[in-house]
Amino acid sequence: MEGLARWSMRKKAPACLFVAAILSLLAVPASAEDGYDLWLRYRPMEASAQAQYRPLATTVVSQGAAPSLDAAKAELTRGLSGLLDKPVRSGPVTDGAVVIGTPVSSPLIAGLNLPLNSLGKEGYLIRSVSLDGHAVTVIAANGDIGVLYGSFAFLRLIQTHQAIAHLDVASAPRVKLRILNHWDNLDGTIERGYAGHSVFDWQKMPYYMDPRYAVMARADASVGINGISLNNVSADVWMLAPMYIGKVSALADVLRPYGIRVYLSIKFSAPVELGKLKTADPADPAVQAWWKKEVDGIYRRIPDFGGFVVKANSEGQPGPRDYNRTQADGANVIADALKPHGGTVFWRAFVYSEKDPTDRAKQAYNEFKPLDGQFRDNVFVQTKNGAIDFQPREPTHPMFGAMPKTNLALEVQLTKEYLGQTTHLVYLPVLWKEVLDWDTMAKGKGSTVTRVIDGSLEGHDNSAMVGVSNIGDDRNWTGAQFSQADWYGFGRLAWDMNLSAEEIAREWLGMTFSNDPAFINAVVPMMIASREAVVDYMTPLGLHHLMATGHHYGPGPWVDDLPRPEQNPVYFHQADAKGLGFDRTPTGSDATSQYAPPIARLFAGPDIPDRYLLWFHHVAWDHKMKSGRTLWDELVLHYDRGIDSVRQMRRTWDAMKPFIDAERWSQESAFLAIQEKEAQWWRDASIAYFETFSHMPMPDGHAPPPHDLAYYKAIYIPYGPGRPGYTAAPFRNLPKDPDENGNAVQIPE
Ligand code: GCU
Repeated sequence: MEGLARWSMRKKAPACLFVAAILSLLAVPASAEDGYDLWLRYRPMEASAQAQYRPLATTVVSQGAAPSLDAAKAELTRGLSGLLDKPVRSGPVTDGAVVIGTPVSSPLIAGLNLPLNSLGKEGYLIRSVSLDGHAVTVIAANGDIGVLYGSFAFLRLIQTHQAIAHLDVASAPRVKLRILNHWDNLDGTIERGYAGHSVFDWQKMPYYMDPRYAVMARADASVGINGISLNNVSADVWMLAPMYIGKVSALADVLRPYGIRVYLSIKFSAPVELGKLKTADPADPAVQAWWKKEVDGIYRRIPDFGGFVVKANSEGQPGPRDYNRTQADGANVIADALKPHGGTVFWRAFVYSEKDPTDRAKQAYNEFKPLDGQFRDNVFVQTKNGAIDFQPREPTHPMFGAMPKTNLALEVQLTKEYLGQTTHLVYLPVLWKEVLDWDTMAKGKGSTVTRVIDGSLEGHDNSAMVGVSNIGDDRNWTGAQFSQADWYGFGRLAWDMNLSAEEIAREWLGMTFSNDPAFINAVVPMMIASREAVVDYMTPLGLHHLMATGHHYGPGPWVDDLPRPEQNPVYFHQADAKGLGFDRTPTGSDATSQYAPPIARLFAGPDIPDRYLLWFHHVAWDHKMKSGRTLWDELVLHYDRGIDSVRQMRRTWDAMKPFIDAERWSQESAFLAIQEKEAQWWRDASIAYFETFSHMPMPDGHAPPPHDLAYYKAIYIPYGPGRPGYTAAPFRNLPKDPDENGNAVQIPE
């Protein structure tokens, strides 16, 4: 300022120029965007839209004070002031007022006798009414948190340019517990994290609470997420130590106004490692007493603590089987400790053992199905969407529909461990909808996964959907702009599984980038197509788990030397001279019989959809597919179709440059270029490998891979992202004779 003043004196500039100079320094150009504000940007709408909405949102009327109500009021004043480009403050009832509250907090709302009964604690009603002779909009709910959810919904209507003059919107969540699992480690790294370090700065808590925690909580609440677990499922026992519980308590205080309860991942051996007991056997009274004491202590500090996530007897984690107890025995001892406080155990079903020669896809079902009915009612068996591990496409896990007496939670993965990680644009709600809409046929037609999860199929009161978070401390939170859509979409779907992936994409694009129909109409199809693209260029026709070792970055279909047989790609694709694919029909591992009979028949028989073919069948290379082509030709076609889709995505995005700011456009443009290059790598490496079995020529018009298999095998990524502490074995397959540039170990250009 001082500098400017001197400048103006020296040059004797006119006052108006001086003011303009200051303003230009203060003003942040509307185009400066880096993604930090997510879908809650609240940038000024165009003037014509402002003129339309301003009279309909003049003031915010909120009676009574409570943390969630205050958060709602703050969000509305912030959002409306930004969008309408004028200060919208708290004020009296006037025309255009937005009146918020519950019948308890607000006599104005109570006086309206609104039909709130069916909306539960979290639902909301947004209605245009006349109040004291003024046309107003009310946002009403039974609970304060419903008012906050309704406020976000009202803002969303404006952000996506919906009409708001005659509103009558009632909404309540389909699923009660809508939870993100952060796989963050206490040292700040993130298991399978591709967006920087953990947002949780444990070192500085509780004395310094980073403002980002509240920003994240606002974003979570804006899509209805109401719980987060804070740490990696492969848990660090320190998480339960008193010094950390103090920090967790401070974090819970920040999150509470936004309706978010905290959960922790725990290690089953904590009674031994932390409690210095001789055993963690769930049948031991000392162990039972230990869990009770621990849990009571947590609730003294965090009265609304959510509960625990447990990964037991899985990938080296301790568990009840170490003591010859069942998974239910293990879950119940912890559930009993939580029960008096209203806490929940999320007991993960992701179990498989290198000592069990059974098809890995069958192991979780085999272990859990016989325990149906033995879990306490505050236990969820948290089950991944498919029986292997978050692949680009899996048939739905056979546990859905097969555990009628158990609360089942669906676990999906937002962080794209097996789907190209940060730089591949893959819009995940398409995948999740495929899972949710899948008909398990467990109780006849209409037994969709949605109905298993929301509890309606078996009459369960409780319901949960869980997502493995993709959030980190990158400026844009998720590493890539389009990965924000997965965070947004997860919450929206868990709230309302009837929403389509297209609707969610439209909303998100409108709030995040632009509502211009030319933009939306081009980018929605791009997002929708992105999921099939990744399936095509990585794992077409039911192939799965062909990723490189450890970091899972890039192709490794040839890997056959891991000590655990069921983690080797060759285990999953079973390629040989005859054909390709895992025979899981009754002549093979018989995994098909874990599904309800009509589905079992479909999967084992000739009518199986192509997309699941190689998951369940070992198919001859020259097998005639539904298309009339051979399996080999069809495979190559899919790989190339995947690359074509990515090229199309790039063309679409190139044409979107005029619609959005340069910073976000350029980043995505660069990422799409990486995606195309890596899609090509996947395609070429896979074809080069599989043709050593098929010995078939490339179909007409499809180019052979430019390098030989040795080249692709030699590509070496020492530090793939997302695997803290993991280094690939040094130069395992490096050929003796790299090309003349010494380049044989690079991803091809
Ligand atoms: C995958 C992932 C691990 C993770 C595990 C789990 O195997 O690669 O990093 O710990 O899933 O879900 O427990």
